Amino acid sequence: MKRAVCPGTFDPMTSGHLDIVERAAAIFDEVVVAVAVSADKGGGPLFTPEERVEMATAVTSHLPNVTVRQFDSLLVDLARQVEATVIVKGLRAVTDFEREFQMAQLNYRIDSAIETMFIVSIPDYMYLSSSAVKQIAGHGGSVEGLVPAHVNKRLVERLGTGR
Ligand code: PNS
Repeated sequence: MKRAVCPGTFDPMTSGHLDIVERAAAIFDEVVVAVAVSADKGGGPLFTPEERVEMATAVTSHLPNVTVRQFDSLLVDLARQVEATVIVKGLRAVTDFEREFQMAQLNYRIDSAIETMFIVSIPDYMYLSSSAVKQIAGHGGSVEGLVPAHVNKRLVERLGTGR
């Protein structure tokens, strides 16, 4: 049984995130989507951890081997707790590389029994990010296709009408 953890802030989960989770679910027996309570990037999250878990759960409901949970600890501790041996992250443009490389190195240093693996983003989602989605939606633009329909609905509820 190979279990992987797919961590992120998921504020909110984009179509790019979902693509990575779907591809990870096709490789591993079980995938745990781990929603980080606190965001390490600038600015507070738009959605609460509970809302982010709700959205991630709804949009992955077609994947029987995927579960979603929140965490507020070291990622490696969460991986140990759920008995996952692999951390799966999506890799977009080279701009992601330095940050992801640093996290992978540090996590390996904390526990070398847990491997980090990267799934490369498809070109359609290469420049897609939760921050860009929030910016576009916040200014009244359409993010249809960039986020799953359920997330689009939540964004409209949170940021107002017109999309
Ligand atoms: O969606 P993101 O911002 O790429 O997710 C980053 C995340 C949540 C994976 C990262 O911040 C994280 O692992 N946080 C938990 C704290 C931790 O373990 N830090 C040590 C690794 S550098």
